[in-house]
Amino acid sequence: MTRILPFTGHGEPETLRQQLAKICLESAAIPVEEGEKREIFLKRWLFQYLDLFPEYAFVAVDERSGQALGYVLACPQTEVYKEKLDQKGLDLWCDHYPEYPAHLHINCAQEARGLGLGGRLLRTLEESLSQKGISGLHLVTSEGNRNVSFYLKNGHAILDQKKLNDTPVVLMGKKLGKNCM
Ligand SMILES: CC(C)(COP(=O)(O)OP(=O)(O)OC[C@H]1O[C@@H](n2cnc3c(N)ncnc32)[C@H](O)[C@@H]1OP(=O)(O)O)[C@@H](O)C(=O)NCCC(=O)NCCS
Repeated sequence: MTRILPFTGHGEPETLRQQLAKICLESAAIPVEEGEKREIFLKRWLFQYLDLFPEYAFVAVDERSGQALGYVLACPQTEVYKEKLDQKGLDLWCDHYPEYPAHLHINCAQEARGLGLGGRLLRTLEESLSQKGISGLHLVTSEGNRNVSFYLKNGHAILDQKKLNDTPVVLMGKKLGKNCM
């Protein structure tokens, strides 16, 4: 049985962070070499969110082994935090932030994909943001990526398309409210 739990107050924090780091690395589009580049990558895509917005981080955990199988992270107000976050391209979509203020990152372990965990993580995050009065959330992915259908199935729409470093990227988003589930 796999449970969706808040990142905070669950298990031994450093062990959990390392399990999430492993998932983050294996989900990277291109292998990330060891050393300083890996440290920067993990800080950019995982650790800064856990440190800045722990209340919006949720993990999927196998109850028997205690192993993390997936996570979702969010920044609740992209416009407010864009200077503080070490992440490229946050200015690219600022026209959409009034309607879709939060942004998210989600990854599941390779062996745990396609089992519905991503959908459960997403719904947990959406409920939590909605409860705090956040009106919408967005994410950026690459054009043609398999995860586009995952987001569409979970109620996100394609809002915009641009090029980032010559790569076609897609902005997807969902409005949140009482009926966000
Ligand atoms: C995208 C992802 C979080 C979805 O979580 P999940 O638990 O696998 O998804 P669910 O079981 O709830 O839904 C299944 C859908 O997820 C997507 N999916 C499944 N495996 C996937 C994979 N290896 N890569 C990308 N998307 C995948 C598909 O859209 C799938 O629907 P389909 O079977 O009809 O094609 C997860 O597959 C994953 O971590 N993929 C690799 C990393 C990634 O793309 N992260 C998002 C970056 S924006």
